[in-house]
Amino acid sequence: MTTPIDPTETTAWEKLSELELHMDPDLRRWFEQDPQRAERLSFTAADLFVDLSKNLVTDDIVAALLDLAQEVKLTERRDAMFAGERINVTENRSVLHTALRRPKGMTPELVVDGQNVDEDVHATLDKVYAFAEKVRSGEWTGVTGKRIETVVNIGIGGSDLGPVMVYEALQPYVQEGLECRFISNIDPTDVAESTRGLDAETTLFIVASKTFTTLETLTNARLTKAWLLENLEKAGVISGEAQHADAVAKHFVAVSTALDKVADFGIDPENAFGFWDWVGGRYSVDSAIGTVLAIAIGPANFADLLAGFHAMDEHFRTTELEKNVPALMGLLNVWNVDFLEAETHAVLPYSQYLHRFPAYLQQLTMESNGKSVRWDGAPVTCLTGEVFWGEPGTNGQHAFYQLIHQGTRVVPADFIAFAEPAHPLKDGDADVHELFLANFFAQTAALAFGKTADEVRAEGTEESVVPARVFDGDKPTTSIMAPALTPSVLGQLIALYEHITFVQGVVWGIDSFDQWGVELGKQLAQQITPAVAGHTEALEAQDPSTQGLIRYYRTHRQG
Ligand code: F6P
Repeated sequence: MTTPIDPTETTAWEKLSELELHMDPDLRRWFEQDPQRAERLSFTAADLFVDLSKNLVTDDIVAALLDLAQEVKLTERRDAMFAGERINVTENRSVLHTALRRPKGMTPELVVDGQNVDEDVHATLDKVYAFAEKVRSGEWTGVTGKRIETVVNIGIGGSDLGPVMVYEALQPYVQEGLECRFISNIDPTDVAESTRGLDAETTLFIVASKTFTTLETLTNARLTKAWLLENLEKAGVISGEAQHADAVAKHFVAVSTALDKVADFGIDPENAFGFWDWVGGRYSVDSAIGTVLAIAIGPANFADLLAGFHAMDEHFRTTELEKNVPALMGLLNVWNVDFLEAETHAVLPYSQYLHRFPAYLQQLTMESNGKSVRWDGAPVTCLTGEVFWGEPGTNGQHAFYQLIHQGTRVVPADFIAFAEPAHPLKDGDADVHELFLANFFAQTAALAFGKTADEVRAEGTEESVVPARVFDGDKPTTSIMAPALTPSVLGQLIALYEHITFVQGVVWGIDSFDQWGVELGKQLAQQITPAVAGHTEALEAQDPSTQGLIRYYRTHRQG
């Protein structure tokens, strides 16, 4: 295990502190005095065009951030990740989600610990694709011979957020006549609502769980199994235990790294798709966890998605840091968090199809970098993991943008938009996509350049209201554009944020691939369950606040 380099002890950090101290951010002036600023700070990565020029950085700051990357040995750690070294030190695992999207035949082959990773990945992919084709073509049927019309993915966290986000994002690519639903929450409402109106004979369930131990997923899998059998019995199409196994075999498949546990659950391992412990849950949408997607959008589109991921991987792996978009964006985030004291980071896609993208990024970024110890167990030496959040524009404009424009906090924001509309609608003569994009362009300009008191007065505003109508500007934003929201572009976007997260983790000395912080709550929930069910001893073992809450529950529960 290499000891992380303390970023705060580097020469670059000292330089950055100094630059921050003397910085007088003024994007209006910076742009006026430097007509090349936008061009110099705009980059391309695969199909993405990324404009960093509206961030609060000077050339000196960018140079110092790049020095910081050198000093913490970013490229060495990146190369170690791609090579399959065990950089997830607290779990002693390789981190190889990038191997999931290596094209067939890529040379040299990736062999880790004597295992040919490329062969393993493509064998599984081929199996997923073959199964997906069978479902899509109607060759795979339910127990009564009817074709599958609804696929329900049961999973949580990384086994849910990726699939649901991509499913929503790529709606135009979903096969007609196929609907996918997603059950994640152990709130029984989720199963109840997600199975509402479904025909058991035409429904396929995919139980997706890396560990196959997750309480929510296994509970929901059992509930849906019971639902399936009850409904098939009710319809009179199966009867008796003997036919249950057949029904489960035709209506349940699984995705997991623990195929033995899949078998224990009663799902035929023949109908299970595996992956490996070197894929973190939140990095797994491009593994067999994406089976629901391969069915929904088809193997060819799924392959395009993977190709997009790979294109961004190659950009990150091979591009010099000065032009390396994930590296620059990750370093900028470090600047925003540690020097500008930004506590949050907004992601604002101008695409309704990306409405689950911020939620997806929350797990990716916050489960990865929400840590206060480094990978060697020592405390971190600076602020880490900012809170990611967001909503699609323009909805957010009419809700929370007020705070970004005129509040007292720094909220760096990523704006994402696509040139090509998915639906080229017209309102009279007006192209609605252009109205939409005009907002995208306007917001980052407004945030950067603001509006002075004199400009407000020039509009004839009454003096007493002038201060309320001034916009200070100098609010940092990044604009990301792509030709269209295709499977490939979506893959590029996801990989971009994966690598940004990695870069931040390396600077902070964090193991971005474990998630021990989710364990305590899980353990306590197990301990508390008997108390909730009314066991006095278990109840009295709880703290007074928890006892009070459980008593409230027990008094008010009627059913
Ligand atoms: O509890 C957190 C977590 O482990 C996530 O990291 C993971 O994505 C999720 O639970 C689901 O885990 P699994 O796929 O093993 O069911």
